[in-house]
Amino acid sequence: MSKNCRKTILATGGAGYIGSHVVLELLQAGFDVVVIDNCSGSSMEGLKRVEKLSGKKVHAYQVDLVNKAAIQEVFKKHEVYCVIHMASLKGVGESWKRPFDYYKVNLFSCMNLIEVMSENNVFNLIFSSSATVYGTPKVLPLVETLETGGCTNPYGRTKFFQEQILKDICQADKRWNVTILRYFNPVGAHESGLIGPVGNPYNIMLYVALVTVGRRDQLQIFGNDFDTPDGTGVRDYIHVVDLAKGHLAAISKLEEHRETQPNIYNLGTGTGISALDIVAAFEKSAGKKIPYEIVGRREGDVATIISDPSKANRELGWKAERRVQDMCDTLWNFQSKNPHGYTEG
Ligand code: WQD
Repeated sequence: MSKNCRKTILATGGAGYIGSHVVLELLQAGFDVVVIDNCSGSSMEGLKRVEKLSGKKVHAYQVDLVNKAAIQEVFKKHEVYCVIHMASLKGVGESWKRPFDYYKVNLFSCMNLIEVMSENNVFNLIFSSSATVYGTPKVLPLVETLETGGCTNPYGRTKFFQEQILKDICQADKRWNVTILRYFNPVGAHESGLIGPVGNPYNIMLYVALVTVGRRDQLQIFGNDFDTPDGTGVRDYIHVVDLAKGHLAAISKLEEHRETQPNIYNLGTGTGISALDIVAAFEKSAGKKIPYEIVGRREGDVATIISDPSKANRELGWKAERRVQDMCDTLWNFQSKNPHGYTEG
């Protein structure tokens, strides 16, 4: 029997794009999985497909983490070994339009979760953070020891503040055992084509996919005058399955790496890919040209963001394996099979 059996992982945001891929990996690794998700940016349909893929049941609760009592009800029903906190409002652009909602939802959710975990003697926590906490890079590639906090948007600041909260509670209470995973640019989909990104196309890859299935007219490329090889923005795109496997690796090291401060890891490939590279790779996947126009830069965009993932490679025994063509192939496979996401028609 798997060493993970009878260990229950609570995944907040587990019905979402990243969350559903993480939940699938957890089930396939033998964990029992409980999901809390308010489904504001996701659908329980994703979890139904995860159950189909894994052949296992997910204990799913449509609960809002701003409702502390509702979280407590879930903890009464399950003996949780570790929480993976992925639930979040996550649109950089949207966060400028409704900053207070972002602070209230993201920070209250985190604090409620911490309180209920502590009241139930659960102190193992893996937190989904973001490369956005590095702000505008002064040196590349980005390593975990770099100063953070120069975030250029409210969304990034909510991730930065949550990291600070977790660092301070770890310092004050040695029972806490926290791992912070800083995601770079998660893209792609599970090879089955059953689960993938749904909802608002905040990011370029999903936008390109929607253009390709005719749900958006054309891609706008935000600037080609950056100091990069082809002038368009360069990012560290990581396949969502590699990202999900990074969470498994983090769980496996939870007991080994107990520190008085959170263990922090970049989850990226260390490879920079430009916006035009994405277009070219996706055209190859879809076998069709993608209409785009070059427009002005987007507020707050920087030229290049690339991770140094060597600490995660070394300490977690994890390394991203999938390359950009696989990211595009798997996303096209999902999008072409689900042109309207999880809703039919
Ligand atoms: C990538 C590149 C754009 C859209 C964001 C969040 C980050 C993380 C990942 C959550 C840039 C260009 C984009 C478009 C374009 N999310 N682009 N046309 O901004 O690097 O990161 O998502 O944690 O926190 O900030 O991702 O996909 O929006 O942009 O030309 O329609 O594509 O200028 O160079 P970003 P992105």
